[in-house]
Parts: sequence; structure tokens; C-alpha cells
Amino acid sequence: MALRLIHLSDIHVWRYTWNARRLFGLRILGVMELLMGRARRFPMDRLDAVVDRVRSLDPDHILITGDLTTTALPSEFQQARRLLAPILGDRERVTMIPGNHDRTTRRSYFTRRFEAAFGEFMPSTTFPWIRRLDDETGILGMDATRWHWHFSPRGYLPEGQLAAARALTADPANLPRRLIVACHYPVAAPPLYRVELALKRLENEQAVRDWLKTIGPHLYCCGHVHAAWAIRPEEIPNQLCLNSGSPTMIDPTGLRLPGFLEILLDDDRVAVSHHAWTGADWKVVPMIEDSLTATASDLPSFTA
Ligand SMILES: [Fe+2]
Ligand SMILES: [Fe+2]
Repeated sequence: MALRLIHLSDIHVWRYTWNARRLFGLRILGVMELLMGRARRFPMDRLDAVVDRVRSLDPDHILITGDLTTTALPSEFQQARRLLAPILGDRERVTMIPGNHDRTTRRSYFTRRFEAAFGEFMPSTTFPWIRRLDDETGILGMDATRWHWHFSPRGYLPEGQLAAARALTADPANLPRRLIVACHYPVAAPPLYRVELALKRLENEQAVRDWLKTIGPHLYCCGHVHAAWAIRPEEIPNQLCLNSGSPTMIDPTGLRLPGFLEILLDDDRVAVSHHAWTGADWKVVPMIEDSLTATASDLPSFTA
């Protein structure tokens, strides 16, 4: 049975309507100002066109892998909800997980502000979980964000969550035949982005890789490093790692076009395309077409 999935990530909605000195202590103020300074690279006026494009494709399901906001303020969550509304109408057809920016402040982390805004797009607010999309396909949702006395681009998959994920995946008979692991943080990257990932990786990346190597063939949908790619990492040969990049980011080097991924699953075949905005129009770039059970040694990789 065929299933068409749109993978979006790192939308980074932001608003300049906040009064930082009133809202925050000095400790977090510098971080917030830094993040808001970077926000200009994510022009919000592009988002309507992205939403229109996704809507016009009429996918079976939409997966959003975190960083919907920039500084996790309530106004950003409200704005994200409003801007994405045209594609959020059917909660059965949308799945979301949080990214580190959705937990920027201590309060947003401990009050689970992301879950309050978007919890209806997850089967449970306790991670990990598996959401079945059809008889053959399911999404395993992970949350490796943290708040560790300061905002950090690095994540950590808590031991309890990793143990629960091991238990969930221990018996392959319980897993969907087409398994999609959704986690904001990549656990491998193409050579061009390895240094960037090293600076913002999971602290326990190796433990997560060791677990992923045991779960059989799977897609791994991530974001966080704002670049689109489809690779089979040598470190995890049973994984097809898909990063959608950001749909709105302007890259000063011009190398990373903003966009999102269209993933077509048909029986045990997978085909992935990058819908990229060139600055003038949309370009559809085929990235990979392959068997779900292929391994790293079988294939070339593609980096947008
Ligand atoms: Fe991001
Ligand atoms: Fe991120």
C-alpha cells in the first residue's frame, strides 16, 4: 500500500513583540537576544507559500520534527499554530515532535509548553511512542530535548526513554514493517555537515546509534542541522537518514535551499524528493529511490 508523507522541520517562527528585560532574567537574556538576532534568517513571510505548497500536494500524512518556534514564547506557539492552520485541520494526518528551540526557557521546558500547544498531534505526551499510520507504517517518536541550566544546542536522550525505546523495539514482530523514527537530532551527517553536527549533537549519540543498529531497517527523520539530505550512514547501515532542512531559512552561502521532503512509500520501496525554493520558484529534486531494506554498502548518498 502506498503512503505519501511530507516531512517538515525547523520552521523557527519568531516575533519581535516581546519585552525581554521584563520577561527574563539576565542569565537567559543574552541567549534570547542571540536567538532573535539569528531569527532574521528565517523570514516568516515565506511560510504561507510553504503551507500552500504542502496543502496542494495533499499528502496522506505530515511529520514535523521540531523547532517550530525560536525562543519558545507563548506568542510564538500561537503564531505557529495560526500560520500552520491550513495544514493542521485533520489531527489524524499530522504528527509532531519538539526541537530544542521549543524548550528554550526553563519555564517552557518544565510546563511542557510544546505539548500544550501541539499535544493533539502526538498519540501521547510521554515519549517514546509509536503512532500507526496504516497497517504497515508507524512513527516512533522521540524527545531528546533538555534544559540543562542553560539553553544548549546539544541534546540528550534520557536513559529512561532510551530503555523504553529498547523495550518497544525489542521484538521486531511488534514493530510496523515500515518504521519511521522521528527525532529532532540527527545521529549521523554527510561529510559536509559533520563538524556542524558535532557542535550540536546528542551527548549520548553513540548509545542511541548502538540501539538503532539493532532495530532493523528504518527511516530516520530529523532536522536541527538546517540542510536537506538523504544518506545511509556507514555507522548505522540499516538506516536511511532523512533531514528535511528548514523550509524558510535563507543561507548566506546559497548552498542550502530552503524546503521540505516528500517521501513516497510503496510496498518496500521508498522515494524521497526535496521541494526546494530557489528564490523564484519551486524545484523538485529527486534525492533517493531505493528499497527500504537496502544497506549502506548498496547505495550512493545525496546531499542537497
Ligand atoms: Fe533548528
Ligand atoms: Fe534544533
